[in-house]
Amino acid sequence: MRFLFIAALLASLLACNGRPSFSAADIDGATLGKGLRPGFLLGAATAAHQVEGGNSNDWTDWENSAYPDGRPHIQDQTVSGLAADSWNRFDEDVVLLRRLGANSYRLSVEWSRIEPEEGKWDEAALDRYLAWVTKLRAAGIEPVVTLHHFTLPKWVAAKGGWSNDDILKPFETFTVKVAAKLGAQVDTWCTINEPTVIAVEGYIDGIWPPGHTSTKEGAFVLARVMEAHAHSAAALRAHDTIDADGDGRATFIGVAHHVRIMQAATDSTLDTVVTGLTDDFANEAVVRAAKTGRIQLSSPGDFEIDREVPGLKDSFDYLGLNYYTRDTLRANLGDPKLSNSFVPADRPVNDLGWDIYPEGLYLYLKRFSKYPWPIYILENGMPDETGEARPAFLRAHFYALQKASDEGVDVRGYFHWSLMDNFEWAEGVTPRFGLFRVDYDNPARTRTPTPAVATFQEIARNAGLKPLE
Ligand code: BGC
Repeated sequence: MRFLFIAALLASLLACNGRPSFSAADIDGATLGKGLRPGFLLGAATAAHQVEGGNSNDWTDWENSAYPDGRPHIQDQTVSGLAADSWNRFDEDVVLLRRLGANSYRLSVEWSRIEPEEGKWDEAALDRYLAWVTKLRAAGIEPVVTLHHFTLPKWVAAKGGWSNDDILKPFETFTVKVAAKLGAQVDTWCTINEPTVIAVEGYIDGIWPPGHTSTKEGAFVLARVMEAHAHSAAALRAHDTIDADGDGRATFIGVAHHVRIMQAATDSTLDTVVTGLTDDFANEAVVRAAKTGRIQLSSPGDFEIDREVPGLKDSFDYLGLNYYTRDTLRANLGDPKLSNSFVPADRPVNDLGWDIYPEGLYLYLKRFSKYPWPIYILENGMPDETGEARPAFLRAHFYALQKASDEGVDVRGYFHWSLMDNFEWAEGVTPRFGLFRVDYDNPARTRTPTPAVATFQEIARNAGLKPLE
């Protein structure tokens, strides 16, 4: 096991070195969208709580409360509230997707709507989701459905959320219900969005519900989330037996794994080793667990998790990656994370101060091509108040994907985050991630194209798709 760990560490360090640098001329000269694999999914992504509006779940409570010292949980002091009101404006959203020329849409279903109380199912909510995915398929837009995107029903949170095993059976039962209802229209499922982010934000950093701050608890949460994924994948395979698109398979299953480039601030041994450890936890552990079927997480003297999870091995049909940015790490052994992350002063950043590093997407596609699954980029995007920086961001990141694809990486999809502006969790509604801008001052939540819509359309046309004129 020690050998495996060292081998993984070396591999990840090597993968971070030999860094490419894209030139503006290369990006400008590329015909983006041309020559991708047949069946490539080009789309946009959202999540229920961030766009639907009117939800009532563990986040609703979090948004309306504060830390013990009085600081609000949500930085800009907004709440998700009506959000983009997609619950009532889904038809408009389908038009947005058609305008883009998208052939796929990644959305999530909200557990708290479907099962507001344990064992009580809201059939009308399920009917609405079924109508949505039916509408998408009829419009030539493949639905990719996420079952869990950060929010929990209040009754699940009250039992401890991801902190204990009580969540496993209810999540499986919820999966069965959704699979049975939507399976006739949905083949591509993402069981859980960003397992590591759930563990880190909610249970280690404590900036999302339930606000806990324990590395040990976070590690057990991550292991449990992967176990929930395994149960959910098995339930999907058993209860969605209808091949909706006639390609010979009724289910196609993965998770959306959040990856970030981890770069050592200096070449010092300490910075390098700490960066390698962080990289292994953040980027590699989840994927290795899915490959081996064994969850292995440890912190010397604190905890050691090393166990086989039935059903985890072979639970992925594809690897979903969400890529946004790079962290530069300086070792700090006094910090629970062993390092501090920063962005060097000369780097371009987005509205949230994140390093804009398109080469990282290329690096990860190359790195994860060592695994046996085709890759889908399930999220990539940037917060951009004016929308003026997004076209270059989209072009550069799509160039990264296309370059990896040209070099043989089996990448089969790209989903821009996000179709429209959404509630950005602890940051509130201030960050604007949308290809379409949402007017939050207008109860009609008017959607207006940002400049990147034209960029997306150009990629779509080059890929042989037809944006609605
Ligand atoms: C999450 C989204 C979020 C996006 C931008 C991803 O980690 O899946 O819900 O809005 O990042 O921060």
